Amino acid sequence: MSNPSLLILAGDGIGPEVMEQVKRIIGWYGDKRDLTFDVFEDLVGGAAYDAHGVPLHDDTMAKAQKVDAVLLGAVGGPAYDDLDFSVKPERGLLRLRKEMDLFANLRPAQCFDALADFSSLKKDIVAGLDIMIVRELTSGVYFGEPRGIHVEDNMRVGINTQRYTEAEIERAARSAFELARRRNNKVCSMEKANVMESGILWRDVVNEVHQADYADVELSHMYADNGAMQLVRAPKQFDVILTDNLFGDILSDCAAMLTGSLGMLPSASLGLPMANGRPKAMYEPVHGSAPDIAGQGKANPIACILSFAMALRYSFDEGAEADRLEAAIEKVLADGARTGDLMGPEGGTPISTTEMGDVILEALDASL
Ligand code: NAD
Ligand code: IPM
Ligand code: MN
Repeated sequence: MSNPSLLILAGDGIGPEVMEQVKRIIGWYGDKRDLTFDVFEDLVGGAAYDAHGVPLHDDTMAKAQKVDAVLLGAVGGPAYDDLDFSVKPERGLLRLRKEMDLFANLRPAQCFDALADFSSLKKDIVAGLDIMIVRELTSGVYFGEPRGIHVEDNMRVGINTQRYTEAEIERAARSAFELARRRNNKVCSMEKANVMESGILWRDVVNEVHQADYADVELSHMYADNGAMQLVRAPKQFDVILTDNLFGDILSDCAAMLTGSLGMLPSASLGLPMANGRPKAMYEPVHGSAPDIAGQGKANPIACILSFAMALRYSFDEGAEADRLEAAIEKVLADGARTGDLMGPEGGTPISTTEMGDVILEALDASL
């Protein structure tokens, strides 16, 4: 049987720095666990723009469609701020999500015990936190038409359209209910049905799917603004949060701070099963290219490494190996390994991106 294949798109800014550590971990699995991947690499974002004049080359898109999973670092940065909108780095990422039809974006927020003091919230509010945000990723205001900047009556008008079909809401809802059944069996769906028709439809469809097939799962609804407040007030009330593309983007950055740092949050973007039964999939940290620290060896690679752990779990049916990697990370954090973003009030000396990779590899060795 051939090896599973991975396409690595490290991207811009800290993307290549954190992905370097993931590559070492992929190598470790080949050497020590006989779990060898065929790894391909290509460009995305500003790096692809510099090489090809587009943020994602058609050949790269075609490769992404063929592999078993894509691992993405981050895209964007100030050097590309003035580019035409159509070729901005972020368009490359959005094209991957849309053309691979990765409609279910799983963004877990787990607070590791060792970091409970590092959250900007009080320890007892976040200790033991384990929530999963399911963000619809291929529709909504990110992709709705009409869109653009037009001139009307001598005035510029910026337009984006929030648009959801029943089918799009239904498949996102099914993903959330299925996940909840494997967790604590609770889904809270967030929209703004009080002011948006798309929110009314969202709530109706979620209720219909629930009544038809998931009545055993506890379902609640919340307006997304209240949801943001509740996430900060009492985040442990949630198990799975189901929400749309834009609210999910914002709520997941908010959830990141519950875990101590944006540098800790992984994600999996999943689509329909391929012929081999694996879902179409891309794994990426929630954070961006962090221009303020790029090139300095300061980035926390854990979000990207945890994204690879999600790949092991969701694409390769290697749940035990994903557990091993997550346990290694938990151990190094418990032992006090901290990149700069994880410096708590008491301060200390941060370790570099590579040093964090070193100690995680040591912990993996120790797990054998
Ligand atoms: P960002 O996530 O890049 O950075 C926000 C803050 O968090 C910065 O202070 C940064 O230093 C810090 N941070 C983020 N990741 C970190 C890590 N791994 N370790 C340590 N600190 C970390 O968000 P931004 O500054 O709003 O955006 C910068 C660029 O990244 C923009 O071009 C944006 O469009 C892009 N972006 C890309 C993605 C992605 O590729 N998935 C996600 C978000 C933002
Ligand atoms: C994310 C990012 C992206 C988004 C950008 C870079 C397109 O913020 O993955 O959270 O808005 O979805
Ligand atoms: Mn975001």
